[in-house]
Amino acid sequence: MIFDDNERIVTSELVAGDSDIETGLRPRRLDEYIGQEAVKRNLEIYIKAALDRREALDHVLLYGPPGLGKTTLAGIIANEMGVNIRITSGPAIEKAGDLAAILTNLSANDILFIDEIHRMSRTVEEILYPAMEDYALDIIIGKGPSAKSIRLDLPEFTLIGATTRAGLLSAPLRDRFGVIERLELYQPEELVDIVTRSARLLDVEITPDGAAEISRRARGTPRIANRILKRVRDFAEVKYDKKITKDIAAEALDMMDIDSIGLDKIDRRMITCMIESFHGGPVGLETIAASIGEDSGTIEDVYEPYLMQAGFITRTMRGRMVTRAGYEHFGYKFSE
Ligand SMILES: Nc1ncnc2c1ncn2[C@@H]1O[C@H](COP(=O)(O)OP(=O)(O)OP(=O)(O)O)[C@@H](O)[C@H]1O
Ligand SMILES: [Mg+2]
Repeated sequence: MIFDDNERIVTSELVAGDSDIETGLRPRRLDEYIGQEAVKRNLEIYIKAALDRREALDHVLLYGPPGLGKTTLAGIIANEMGVNIRITSGPAIEKAGDLAAILTNLSANDILFIDEIHRMSRTVEEILYPAMEDYALDIIIGKGPSAKSIRLDLPEFTLIGATTRAGLLSAPLRDRFGVIERLELYQPEELVDIVTRSARLLDVEITPDGAAEISRRARGTPRIANRILKRVRDFAEVKYDKKITKDIAAEALDMMDIDSIGLDKIDRRMITCMIESFHGGPVGLETIAASIGEDSGTIEDVYEPYLMQAGFITRTMRGRMVTRAGYEHFGYKFSE
C-alpha cells in the first residue's frame, strides 16, 4: 500500500523514514541553501568577519517552525567556517556534568549545536551562561562552608541553538546570543527550486508544473515538500511511467487527502470544530486542543503557522478566530 491513512503526510515534524532521504538532500554550503535570503545575507557577513579575524563565530539562535532548515543551516555554518560541529539537544543533556563534559571536549572555534534548546533544564542552562560569555566553566568543589568555586577556561566556541519557540527561552539565555535569526515559511517559488533540486539528487524526472503542484501543497516547508516528492515518485512509478507531471502529482496528493493548498483532515477538523462548536472563536488554544484531541504545543508549532500564513485564522488576546477566508475555504458562509 502506498498511503497509510493513519499517517499525517503534511506534518512538518520529523517522522520515521524522513531521516534517510533528508541526509542525502541536505544542502552543505550556503549557496546551495535556497530561500531565507535575509538570514543568509547576515550569516554570510558574520562568517566572513569571523574567518578574517580567525575567531569563533558569535553564538547563533535559529528559531522557526519545524522542517524549515534550522539543523541544515547549523551544518552549513560549520562547513563554511571549516570547523567541527558537535550535535546534541536540550532534552538529551540531563545533568550539568553532561554539558560540562561536552564543553571541555570542544576544540578552538568548534560549534556546539543544541537542538530544542528551550527544553534544557535550568541547572544545565546555568552552566551555559559563563561558558557563552567568558568561555569559562565554574565548578564547585566540596560542600557547605568549605565549598570552593574554581573556574576552568574553555576554548572559544560557537553555540548554535535551535528552537521552534523562542518565546519559551529564558531572557538571560536569549540575551547571550549575538545573532538571532528567525526562519520564515518558504514562498512557493522557493519550494519549486527545492523540489527541483531534490528531484535531481534523487534522480526523479519531474516537469516544472509537477514541481509547482507539489510546492503549492507543501505548506511552505521544505521537509514536507521533500516527503511529498518521495510519495509522488512512488505513486508515479507504480501507476505511470515514472515521470512526475502536474496531473500525476495532483492525483497522488488528492489520494493522500491533501487539498489544493496543502491542508489535510486535521486542519479541516480544527477549523470545522472552531466554526461549529465555537462560532468561529475567539477560542483558547487549550480548548481547541482538548476538543480535537491534539496537543496544544503541536497545534501551535505545526498547524497554526501555516493556517495563519494562509490567512485562515488569526490570534487575538482572547484566543484564536477563524477569518472570512477560513470560513470560505472550508465551504462555510461567513457572517459578521
Ligand atoms: N533552504 C533549503 N534548501 C534546500 N533544502 C532545504 C532547505 N531547508 C531545509 N531543507 C530540506 O528540508 C529538510 C528539513 O530541514 P531541517 O532538518 O534542517 O529542519 P529543522 O528546521 O531543523 O527542523 P526541526 O525543527 O524539526 O529540527 C532538510 O533535510 C533539507 O533536505
Ligand atoms: Mg532540526
